[in-house]
Formats: sequence, structure tokens, C-alpha cells
Amino acid sequence: MTQVLCVAGARPNFMKIAPVMAALAETGIAAQLLHTGQHYDAAMSDSFFADLGIPRPDHHLEVGSGSHAVQTAEVMKRFEPVLESVQPQAVLVVGDVNSTIACALVAAKRGVRVIHVEAGLRSYDRSMPEEINRVLTDQISDLLFTTERSALANLRREGVDPARVEFVGNVMIDTLHRNLEQAVPSVRTLGATLPQYAVLTLHRPSNVDDAPTLAALLDVVGEINRTLPVVMPLHPRTRGNIEKFGFTAKLDGLHILPPVGYLEMLGLMRDAKLVLTDSGGIQEETTALGVPCLTLRENTERPITLAEGTNTLVGPHPEAIRRAFAEVMAGGGKAGRIPEYWDGRAAMRIAYKLKDWLPMPKGVHALSGTRIV
Ligand code: UD1
Repeated sequence: MTQVLCVAGARPNFMKIAPVMAALAETGIAAQLLHTGQHYDAAMSDSFFADLGIPRPDHHLEVGSGSHAVQTAEVMKRFEPVLESVQPQAVLVVGDVNSTIACALVAAKRGVRVIHVEAGLRSYDRSMPEEINRVLTDQISDLLFTTERSALANLRREGVDPARVEFVGNVMIDTLHRNLEQAVPSVRTLGATLPQYAVLTLHRPSNVDDAPTLAALLDVVGEINRTLPVVMPLHPRTRGNIEKFGFTAKLDGLHILPPVGYLEMLGLMRDAKLVLTDSGGIQEETTALGVPCLTLRENTERPITLAEGTNTLVGPHPEAIRRAFAEVMAGGGKAGRIPEYWDGRAAMRIAYKLKDWLPMPKGVHALSGTRIV
């Protein structure tokens, strides 16, 4: 009997599902893995399975790209018969991508319990598709695992029963710990020795779908590149828009790479003087690595990276980016400390909780004396 059907769909899911699958196996919980196929390129998907030792998915929905509605609906349509045939005790979803809400919604409506890993993060920016996915997934989840303490306050505000919420720490940092020694040295990924460099990732629709915003960002990056070489693994959405808007010349002089694998990215970040990003996960990974991060967004759903970590919000504003960059060059940037429970054991805390929780009847969330390691 399958106890937990685990779902992963897009690149940022893979580093979260890897330690969860390993911890479930270690604690003897019978799990299956389903890949929705939201991300499908070798560079966006397959390489992560290989690098992170994620078991081959038991089910693959092969949904591919589409508008948000099409992608979400396609996942839902194809997920339902799989759920019907597997009949798990619970469905486990991670993060905030379209696959997360799609599978959670199907499971909830079929009366199958939903477990959400990385619950309660809020940017309070509803123009972000991921924010909609977060809010809705949390509303229909039966058990919510959080990465930082601020998440519980967000969930309370939305009327989520705190008995359903468990603070376990950050599974993505489990993956980072497990793989840091195998990280590919930056010199190999770059094919050159750069004594100092910055890494840039850009893919949020708010930054890359609007031509003037993207132009201003690429221009200020060009300026930075004259002082500190900028390495940019290029997301397919960003590459497409740069071509569409005729901005290819703005990349001149930058070290452009295709989307890189997990171990390459880890090496690039670890060896960098500075990271500039609009990703969610990278804000957390740089905090764990102690590398200064300038986040090219107006807000973050991961406030602990600002309060305790190495992260600084600069938005897409050239002046703020220039100022923060100058501070890093002059003083080395924020030092930060490692947040509570970002210790490499989050997935094991999840598995121990599930050992107690899965046999309980639906609607019961906690037994006294639950073992949290
Ligand atoms: C999605 C997630 C976002 C995550 C990001 C990481 C949602 C709402 N968004 O956004 O949270 O941070 O992934 O990458 O779920 N494409 C490829 N090959 C692939 C995958 C995508 O070429 O393997 C192309 C698509 O055709 C599309 C573009 O990249 O043109 C965007 O992909 P999509 O998954 O729709 O959204 P992301 O912007 O990547």
C-alpha cells in the first residue's frame, strides 16, 4: 500500500522533494513519486534527478508548458486518475508552483489528505502567481510544514488552525548540506578562472516580461560587469524575452551560461562574491552559504533571509542596486547567521511527524508527545 504520493513538477521542487523521499524511505514510509512534467528540459529537470539521486518517478504526467490555466488544468486532469488508482493515505506537495496547487486541489476534493512542505510563506503580493498558489494550497492542506517561524503568524492570519502547522526547518537546506562537498568548482563550470565574480539569475515575470524593466536591469548589470564579472545562467523564459525584445546586445561581455545543474549552481554560488537574483530558493541558499545576496524584487516571502541571513532587497531599481553593490564591494556585504532548524535535518523531522500522523483519522492533527528530532 502506498502511504504517501509525493509530487514534484518544476525545477525548484526537485531540491525539496529529494530529501523528503530519502527520509520517507529511511523511516519505512511507503512513498511513490509523481512528476507532473511542468518542467521537462534535460537542463531544467532530468539533471536534477541524476545529481540529487531522486528515484525515477513512478508516474509522469508530461504536461509541459502552457498558460497558467492550461498548465494547472492539465495537471489536474491527468493527476486525478493516478490518484484514483494509487489510493494513497496522503498527497505531499512542495513549494508554490502550478503543480503544487493543481495536485493539492485534486486530492482535497477527492477527500485525500494533503501535506504541504514549505507552507505559510507570504510575499503579500497577489500579482505573483506563486503567492496565489501558496495561499490556496495552505487553505486546503491538512498538515503544513514550515521553514521559518514567521510562517505560523501568516497562517493564523488566514484562519489556519495552528494544530495543523509544524515548524521543521528547510528541506532545501538539507539538500544543500548533503551536496556541498560534491559541488562542481566554479572554474570548471566557467571554463575559466575568475578571481571574483557575481552570479545573476532572473526569471520572475515581473522582471523579465516587461521590456523597460528588463532593459533597465540588464543595463545596470552591464555596469556591474565592468567592475565585477557577472555570470548569468539563463532561464528559458528570460532567454525568450531577451530575443523577443531585441536585447541580445545587452548581454555582451557577460558570462552567459545555459540553465546549470544543481551541483554547478551550488559551486557557482559558493565561490561567488555576490549573488543577484529574483528567485525564492536562492535567497535561502545564499543565506545558508553565507554569501551576500541582492534580491531584485520589491518583497520577499522569506523574511528570515533579511532579518538573519545575507539577503538585501533592492527591487528592480537601478539606483538601489548600484548602492547595494557598492556596499558589498566596499565592506563585503551582510554576514548573517544560519536560521533555526536550517540544519540538514528538516526532512527527517517531517518523516517522524508523518509516522505518527498518517495512521491518525482525518481531522486529527497531533498526538501529545510527537517526536521531533
Ligand atoms: C516556474 C514557477 C516558478 C519557479 C520557476 C523556476 C509557477 C507558477 N512558476 O516559473 O515558481 O520559480 O518555474 O524555473 O509554477 N520552459 C522550457 N523548458 C522547461 C520549462 C520551461 O523551455 O523545462 C519554458 C516554457 O516553455 C516557458 C518558460 O520556460 O516558455 C517558463 O516556464 P514555466 O514553467 O511556465 O514558468 P516559469 O517562469 O519557469
